[in-house]
Amino acid sequence: MAGGLLGIESLERTEIESILDRAKSFQPQQSASRKSDLLRGRMIVNLFFEASTRTRTSFEIAAKRLGADAISITASGSSVTKGESLVDTLNTLGAMRPDAIVMRHAASGAPHFLARYLPTPIINAGDGTHEHPTQALLDARTILDRRSTLEGLKVAIIGDIAHSRVARSNLFLLSKFGSRIVLCGPASLVPPELAQLAAGVTIAHRIEEAIREADVIMMLRVQLERQHEAAFSANEYFQFYGLRLEHMSLASPDAIVMHPGPINRGREISSEVADSQRSVILNQVENGISVRMAVLERILSN
Ligand code: NCD
Repeated sequence: MAGGLLGIESLERTEIESILDRAKSFQPQQSASRKSDLLRGRMIVNLFFEASTRTRTSFEIAAKRLGADAISITASGSSVTKGESLVDTLNTLGAMRPDAIVMRHAASGAPHFLARYLPTPIINAGDGTHEHPTQALLDARTILDRRSTLEGLKVAIIGDIAHSRVARSNLFLLSKFGSRIVLCGPASLVPPELAQLAAGVTIAHRIEEAIREADVIMMLRVQLERQHEAAFSANEYFQFYGLRLEHMSLASPDAIVMHPGPINRGREISSEVADSQRSVILNQVENGISVRMAVLERILSN
């Protein structure tokens, strides 16, 4: 992982395991003190060209808990709105000598492109529809807090798979660990070629089929911002692909429900499920901090 974190696809299983182990040691239950000075004197720049609540805040908190300085820049408040190119913006920030740049961008591959030009390590916080590596890592941490292994688990990923970087990163990670992944959603949002991306991936078009005996149910938002037009109404979508309480009896008795957020209640998930005992949505948010601490430490302490 020298030089940054661009995606899960190119990571070795052992690297993932060591990040997840380290993240566990950063969980509040494991460590007495919330703050350390492991990265004291280091500076992390968060550069977000797309909206974010969880990811940006948790990178900031993670950096601060390790004693580093963190600043966040959003595209709407930067010179990007004055026509500055991506390379020029990044070169400008690079000249301020940050130790790492955390970046979210609407274009798939944007962080990979910049990583070739800049000496600064780049951490991908979501690039278009491509990857969102720290999300998959925090999802794996959340599953492993409840199950001893990812091997053999049935994981149903339901919703707008076509536009989801979260789905892709999870697919790469879970497949490396031998989970069985079922992708589910309307045909227009689950192109068949996605099943070729990794081993152990199949497609189901009915939610009941995807959920049957699932150990993990991962719901995704319909990313209207990446579509030219919505092919169905919110009500229609919820009727066919929304997760409701009655579905839960099909799943494994101790199945967990995940969602990367932001959730749209009554669209992809009902409030009853989102707020139920099965839901680990807020645990995912909490693990976001520990996992990002582990990632920052790994990249910056080299
Ligand atoms: C996701 C994202 O931005 O890719 N959110 C997140 O980072 N937690 C998913 C989404 O926007 O639906």
